[in-house]
Amino acid sequence: MRITVTVNGEQHTRDVEPRLLLVHFLRDELGLTGTHWGCDTSNCGVCTVWLDATPVKSCTVLAVMADGHEVRTVEGLAHGAELDPVQQGFIACHGLQCGFCTPGMMLTARWLLDHDADPSEEDIREAISGQMCRCTGYENIVRSIRWAAEHGGGAQTADAAADTEPAPGREEVRA
Ligand code: FES
Ligand code: FES
Repeated sequence: MRITVTVNGEQHTRDVEPRLLLVHFLRDELGLTGTHWGCDTSNCGVCTVWLDATPVKSCTVLAVMADGHEVRTVEGLAHGAELDPVQQGFIACHGLQCGFCTPGMMLTARWLLDHDADPSEEDIREAISGQMCRCTGYENIVRSIRWAAEHGGGAQTADAAADTEPAPGREEVRA
């Protein structure tokens, strides 16, 4: 099937098999290996990307389901040469060890801060509850996201600030 997907603002058209997962489309077809592939069973959350501004586990989404839609990966998190405050927070607070969970964690953090500029520790822990850090570095991940909140990291997405309701499909990252 021929699909066209906008990834980080750039359109990509490819012929793909109907069974191809979005995570493999991003990694193998587009070379965007910042999206990691872990359990392949919707358990670990390392494959989290945004699909139309909602975090989803890209191992649970077929590439053909993204046809005509927008995807944001960790490669699209920075603003030109300037790192997103979430990325800066992970640096400042040592929010990563091996880094395997980090892209997905940061994309969920960005979504959270777009919808709640001042999340509590509990809010942050709930937001990342569908994602596992095999290095068990949760304390510093939470600190990193709080750092971003305290350094102007809220509401980076244009229309997110006005949208205070959880996005449809949010359960995708909590499953
Ligand atoms: S690879 Fe583990 S949830 Fe997608
Ligand atoms: S930093 Fe290693 S899995 Fe989270």
